[in-house]
Amino acid sequence: MLKKIILSGMRPTGKLHIGNALGALSNWISLQDEPGTLCYYMVADWHALTTDYKDPSATEKNIEDMVLDWIAQGLDPEKSIIFRQSWISEHADLALILSMITPLAWLFRNPSYKEQMSELKEKEIATHGFLGYPVLQAADILLYRATHVPVGEDQLPHLELTREIARRFNHIYGKNILLEPAAILSPSPRVAGLDGRKMSKSYENCIYISENESAIKKKINSMFTDPTRIKATDRGHPDPCPENPTGCAVFATHKLYTSQAPTLNARANACREGQLSCSQCKNELFLSVNNALAPMREKRESLAAKKGRVSEVLRAGTQKAKVMANSTYGSVRDALHFAV
Ligand code: TRP
Ligand code: SF4
Repeated sequence: MLKKIILSGMRPTGKLHIGNALGALSNWISLQDEPGTLCYYMVADWHALTTDYKDPSATEKNIEDMVLDWIAQGLDPEKSIIFRQSWISEHADLALILSMITPLAWLFRNPSYKEQMSELKEKEIATHGFLGYPVLQAADILLYRATHVPVGEDQLPHLELTREIARRFNHIYGKNILLEPAAILSPSPRVAGLDGRKMSKSYENCIYISENESAIKKKINSMFTDPTRIKATDRGHPDPCPENPTGCAVFATHKLYTSQAPTLNARANACREGQLSCSQCKNELFLSVNNALAPMREKRESLAAKKGRVSEVLRAGTQKAKVMANSTYGSVRDALHFAV
């Protein structure tokens, strides 16, 4: 008996960094093994176009890189339906219908719209498509009658809008056609970038999960540490943690890759007492990170060697996803008394 239908998506921005892997993706992967759960995971390529419409030439490469990372991490095309948004025309079709009933005021008050309008000034995103971003997202979710949507905290307003749009549709057309989904909040560990700021592609401070050994080593060696420690015997900050302004990105990353608290405490103590040099500490971090990433790197390389494997996965997933999308869209047209 199916208890949960999961749908989530990511915009194809290329390779994933370790922050992505420990956040949203780890959630997706654990959901695919829950009994009674059907998972749809979508490449949101139309959504990528809302901000990067001027040069979409890297889209195919970005999709390939992202999906390779998904599978290398453990997303399994045998367990989950992995598909591509723009290959199923019902996404754009349903978004158009939903746009008819969505009041502009709902879109203008969307916090991520306001935030991005002020942050992404150079991208000229004062467009119809960008304002309508959450309407398209609502279509993605509602087409699959998703009961649950795993998302990061930043996406909660979009999910609330989806629920409001579904309710309004059902209210106007007097039928219970669209299903209001619930959120499953993905963990969002605070992952420090190489420079100590939040890890983000736009800061160019990321460690990517597909990175090779020597690149990881180089990056970790360049990482921000406690600025008060110059000699190995200097005493470190009493709390070498990233929440603290004098904290250390190396320590923050050890936290993510060390499961035992005593080991972490011992490290913090050794740092504080001036008994651990930053270069040794970095070398140990390199070993843990590399250990964690090595099996995925291998899996990714063997997948990448099979040319066309990613598009095969996406084509097969798209065939499966289409069935549900088509059925919901049919009911929607029906509710409007538009013949199919
Ligand atoms: N907006 C989401 C993000 O930026 C991506 C996305 C598109 C999505 N469609 C979705 C997420 C549907 C969940 C459900 O992360
Ligand atoms: Fe950071 Fe480790 Fe150096 Fe301490 S020893 S400052 S935790 S890198």
